[in-house]
Amino acid sequence: MEPITITEKKNLQYDISITSDFESLPGLVSELCPNTVNILILTDSNVGKIYLKDIKALLKGYKVTTHTIPAGEASKSKDNAFEILDILYEKGFARSDLLISLGGGVVSDLGGFVASLYMRGINHIICATTLLAMADASVGGKTAVDFHDKKNLIGAFYSPRHILMNINTLNTLPDRLYFAGFAEIMKAGLLYDEKFYMWLIENLYEICEKKTETVEYMLSRAIEIKQAIVEKDPYEQKGDRMLLNLGHTIGHGIESVMGDEYIHGECVSLGCVAAAYISYKMGHITSDECYEIRDMFVPFNLPISISTDKTEDIFNALKFDKKNTSGKLRMVLLKKIGKAFVCDDVDKELVREAIEELNFKEED
Ligand SMILES: NC(=O)c1ccc[n+]([C@@H]2O[C@H](COP(=O)([O-])OP(=O)(O)OC[C@H]3O[C@@H](n4cnc5c(N)ncnc54)[C@H](O)[C@@H]3O)[C@@H](O)[C@H]2O)c1
Repeated sequence: MEPITITEKKNLQYDISITSDFESLPGLVSELCPNTVNILILTDSNVGKIYLKDIKALLKGYKVTTHTIPAGEASKSKDNAFEILDILYEKGFARSDLLISLGGGVVSDLGGFVASLYMRGINHIICATTLLAMADASVGGKTAVDFHDKKNLIGAFYSPRHILMNINTLNTLPDRLYFAGFAEIMKAGLLYDEKFYMWLIENLYEICEKKTETVEYMLSRAIEIKQAIVEKDPYEQKGDRMLLNLGHTIGHGIESVMGDEYIHGECVSLGCVAAAYISYKMGHITSDECYEIRDMFVPFNLPISISTDKTEDIFNALKFDKKNTSGKLRMVLLKKIGKAFVCDDVDKELVREAIEELNFKEED
C-alpha cells in the first residue's frame, strides 16, 4: 500500500502518514531529525510485546534505548514523566535527539509531554497504534499527564515532527478498543460533515471488518476534520476547539460514575445520544434524526443506553464539569447532522431528562 500523507497545516507543523507497516520510519528519522544520535522508544507493556523488536531492528544505525510503561491510564503520571526525563539525562540525550512514542493515547500524551520538557523540547515522532490515538489523541498537539487524580491537568501544546499510523497495528487491537476509538470518528462526522457521517453508516460492514481502503479513508477524513477545527484554535483560546467536545459533557459524567462499566469512547457514544436528544428537544433536529443518530451507534458495538439507578449521580457529576457555567449547562449540541454549535444555556432539567432517557434496556 502506498502511504497516504496528510501535509502540515499552518498551525500544525507536522505531516501524518497512513501506512501498512513501519518501514518508512528510518527515512523519516534521517529526514526530519538529521542530527539524531540517540533515540528513546517509549512504549507500553502490551504494544512493546508485539512491535518493539521490529522497530528496534529498523533503527539499528542509532543508539536506541527502550522504556516500557505498564499499559493503562495510570501510567500517564508525573512520576513516569520524571523517570523518563531521568533516562534522557543519564543517557546524555541532546536537543537534536529523538523520542519515539509507540502506542495509544497514553503513550503519545506522556511521550509528547516529556519531549516538550526535556531541554525545552526535543524531537518527537508518534507511532500511533490505537484507532483513538490515530483519529484523535495524537493529532492536534496536546500532550499531558494526569495529576492529583485529575485527568490531563498538567501538559503542554507540543507538536511532534511526524505521526506515523500503521493501520495494520489495528489488527492486534482488541475489538472493544477499536469501536471505542470509532465513537470519536462518528462524533467527527456528526459535528462537522454530514456526508462523512452518511459514508460511515454506508460502510458499516467494511469498517467493522477493518478493510484497508475503508480504514484509510475513514482515518484520513477524521484527521482532516480534527485538523480543520484545531487549526482555527490551536491553543484552545478562542472556543472553536470546544466543538470537539460533542458527546463529552454528559459522557464525562457517565465515565466518572460508571467508569468501571464503560470505557471512554463508549461514554462518548452515550454522550452523543444525549446531546442529540437535547438538540431535538430544543428544536434543532427532528425526532426522527435524534433516534436515527442513537440507533446508528448500535451496529458499531457502541452502547446507547445505561440501565442504571445512578442517573442522579451522573447528573450531579456534571456540576463539577469544567464546561459548566453558573446555573445553566454549557455543552455542544447539533444544529443539524454535520453542524455542531456551543450552547451556553442548556436547561438543567432538560439535561436530567436526557440522562433519564438513556436509562432503558436495549431489548425493550
Ligand atoms: N492529546 C489529546 O488530544 C487526546 C485526545 C483524546 C484522548 N487522549 C488521551 O488518550 C488516552 C487514551 O488513548 P487510548 O484509547 O489509545 O488508550 P491506551 O493508550 O491506554 O491504549 C489502550 C489499550 O490498548 C493497548 N494497545 C494499544 N495499541 C495496541 C495494539 N495495536 N494492539 C494491541 N493492544 C494495543 C494498550 O496497551 C492499552 O492497553 C487517554 O489518556 C486520553 O486522555 C488525548
